[in-house]
Amino acid sequence: MNFNLKYAFVQREYASIFNRIPLIASKYRKKITGCQGVITIFKGIFMATVRIDSLIKSIATALDIVEGALLGASTNHGKRIAVLCAKMGKVLGKNPEEITALAICALLHDNALTEYILSEKKNGKHDPAMKKHCEYGQRNVDALHFKTNVKNFILYHHERANGTGPFGIREGEGPLEAELITIADSIDAAHHLQRLEPENLPAIRSMIVEETGKKYSKIAAETMLEILDLPTILSLKDNVIKQTASEALFPWTEDIQTETIFGLAGFIASIIDYKSVFTQKHSTQIANKAWFMGKYYKYEPQELAELYLAASLHDLGKLAVPSDILEKPGKLSEEEFGIIKEHVRLTWELLSDIEGFETICRWASNHHEKLDGSGYPFGKKAPELDFNSRLLACLDLYQAISEERPYHPGRSHGDTMRILYEMASMGKIDGDITKDLDIALAPYDGKDINFLYS
Ligand SMILES: [Fe+2]
Ligand SMILES: [Fe+2]
Ligand SMILES: [Fe+2]
Ligand SMILES: [Fe+2]
Repeated sequence: MNFNLKYAFVQREYASIFNRIPLIASKYRKKITGCQGVITIFKGIFMATVRIDSLIKSIATALDIVEGALLGASTNHGKRIAVLCAKMGKVLGKNPEEITALAICALLHDNALTEYILSEKKNGKHDPAMKKHCEYGQRNVDALHFKTNVKNFILYHHERANGTGPFGIREGEGPLEAELITIADSIDAAHHLQRLEPENLPAIRSMIVEETGKKYSKIAAETMLEILDLPTILSLKDNVIKQTASEALFPWTEDIQTETIFGLAGFIASIIDYKSVFTQKHSTQIANKAWFMGKYYKYEPQELAELYLAASLHDLGKLAVPSDILEKPGKLSEEEFGIIKEHVRLTWELLSDIEGFETICRWASNHHEKLDGSGYPFGKKAPELDFNSRLLACLDLYQAISEERPYHPGRSHGDTMRILYEMASMGKIDGDITKDLDIALAPYDGKDINFLYS
């Protein structure tokens, strides 16, 4: 079969699996009790389910670091907005699915900051109203396949009740959820609620009253005033916010092979990739190539899905690395290289807490380990590195070497493979996988591979 035909076949085959999933799932799926839905029996096949809410909290932690670095927002900003919104949603009588959708949009309200800042850098134009990050942010969450409608929740998160916001939307013209995110975001950004002294609470409450009808809609302001008391403020402190956020969010579990997971994987990969002009397709391409190699090795759908997710997430910790280090054209100092190396440890920290994510976390955070123990962050050796850890390490190198970087131009498949073979001969990476990559990826000659869920 020629390569492109084979490719179309792969896409069709997977499209049909996804189409069948809801039907099969509702008929045969049976959860094993006592392990919080981590393993599901799927007509005799073991499938993993993912706690989407836990994964999103980890992504939000990484985003909070970005928002802190780029906008000076304080630590755990996203989590505080989510808690405030969940409380307001409850007061307004929303059901658990609606509250989850609202809280997750609140957690991810500034998910497009990296993309927005990068597009400003590239175009040399500044958009003071920051319309673009609202548009990109909404587009990104739309890919997550929420169970309830989240239309315009993020798009309108900088609107003002009097219509003077970026899109000129007045109070009541957009969704109420966007008005709730707006008031929570604006108050926390201006007053750093995690540090608020109780005696300053009355001043904030007066400000809310003062701004009603100008900045804040009447209903958002009234609801905020109802929840913004001393116990709420105390529950937003940095030392307890993780716990408060966990209690505010309802569990949201999905089977690993659903569209939601693939949407989420693409969402994460693009946020990470937009961190630097030189890595705009790095995670997405590694994920697509991992998918492609998984098919090459004839993986079962579950392993393929886990590998794809691990590949999408492998550089999650890079969100915490300053862009000027990522984009430095010359040689990095020892200290700068030390900062870069920390990204893998952070990937591990962010993913290791998620139920059902043990394998994905291991594969993702082993991507800079070397078989001879000279890699980082753990200095693991060959016996500790399983096949997919080695595969992701090879794919990460393949992508990094073939794509354009500040310190080297893009390279062809042949040039990339020469470097990989040399590393394999030195005992750094797996020689058999290196040969497989050479055979499987040669027809693309260093060009992008694009898939159904990329
Ligand atoms: Fe924003
Ligand atoms: Fe914000
Ligand atoms: Fe990395
Ligand atoms: Fe990478």
